[in-house]
Amino acid sequence: MDSIHICGGCPLNGETRIQGSKNAVLPVLAATVLVDGVSTLYNCPDIADVHCMIRLLRSTGCKVKWQNGEIRVDARRIACTSLPQAYVQTMRSSVVMMGALLGRMGEVHISYPGGCVIGKRPIDMHLQAFARMGVTLEEACDGLTACAKHLAGAVITLAFPSVGATENCILAAVLAKGETLIRNAAREPEIDALCDFLRCAGGDICREADGSLRIRGRERLCRCAWRVPPDRIVAGTYLLGCMAAGGRIRLADVDTTQLDAVLAVIEQMGGKYESSGDGIILAAPERVKAIPYIRTEVYPGYPTDLQSQLLAALALAEGESIVEETIFENRFRVVPELVRMGAHINIEENHVTIKGVARLHGSHVKAEELRGGAALCMAALAAQGDSCITNRHFIDRGYQALEQDIRNLGGRI
Ligand code: EPZ
Repeated sequence: MDSIHICGGCPLNGETRIQGSKNAVLPVLAATVLVDGVSTLYNCPDIADVHCMIRLLRSTGCKVKWQNGEIRVDARRIACTSLPQAYVQTMRSSVVMMGALLGRMGEVHISYPGGCVIGKRPIDMHLQAFARMGVTLEEACDGLTACAKHLAGAVITLAFPSVGATENCILAAVLAKGETLIRNAAREPEIDALCDFLRCAGGDICREADGSLRIRGRERLCRCAWRVPPDRIVAGTYLLGCMAAGGRIRLADVDTTQLDAVLAVIEQMGGKYESSGDGIILAAPERVKAIPYIRTEVYPGYPTDLQSQLLAALALAEGESIVEETIFENRFRVVPELVRMGAHINIEENHVTIKGVARLHGSHVKAEELRGGAALCMAALAAQGDSCITNRHFIDRGYQALEQDIRNLGGRI
């Protein structure tokens, strides 16, 4: 059944443990291709995107074993450098396999990853960076062939601190000849997680004081074992769900230092939180306060991946809020579905105006992408009555146990 049924209207109360980070583990899985040995990853989230990345790794000849949250990748023999179109089009983050295969094999063939509902998602910055490292690119109708007999380190200045472009540069540079400096590199925690994994495998990478990344190419990387950090976006999703539905929750395995911008907004809305052991406790206010104006930004600003979930909480606020989306050009797809639940939200170009209402009502709504789908589940927990959220496969791409998590937090799903 591709749908989720939630009976909302009651405050949350309970505790759940946060899964490993989707956006940290995906580039690290690609990075295992660079290791001439076996890499072991603990705390891997059991989500559709990880399964897709594992299929991609197997298509290159890697041997991959996955049992209870632990993935072992044996990349000693890479037999194929052409990535199957089906996988690449399913999951655009497979584009980071380019940097890994270029770094290890000096070539890769990939179909264009294509856009998705939140934006056209070009890869121009990735390709410009590769060209600076001596990669030649051949475009064909079925995709792109990139090769570099000798990948050479270079000074790369990114026009925008793109997460994926930064990851691809790191993956191509870590075995390249010489030194690479990535200026205006992304600062998201997932970048530092990738650098941490690569250092664990013997890579020479450091973050300079100005935020640039300096990578000195090595001959080879060696076997290592590494734990996937907790998912800050899943944690933020449940915190905002509690703000919408009310109540008091505890989330275990949360790095609150990665949620500063989100916690500042939660406090502004009237939430009270405290760190507790390896996690966080949040007590929601009777009714959330509106946020006069907020915009999504690159890290450490307010994350675009928690923008839809914030709309769900502000839909019930006392007062009017304005939320501007500055990262993606089409990330308000969730708005019409929230309006069906009774929200008063108006889209004007790249921002929305939300007039808070006293209550939302349960409805039949559809997910159109991962974070919008998660936001609808959070709104359904707050809405009076039953909701049905269809296209749950979008949500399964990033949330490994949404039902169990929501039950643990006292929701009825
Ligand atoms: C990563 O996507 C995340 N995905 C996204 O999370 C996240 O929203 C995004 O970073 C921003 O934080 C993964 O990590 C797997 P970008 P990515 O390159 O790397 C434009 C989720 O819900 N751009 O930083 O694709 C691009 O179009 C997902 O978990 C170019 O124009 O993001 C976008 O407007 C959604 N040219 C902006 O930059 C390029 O060459 C940010 O993209 C590259 C990007």
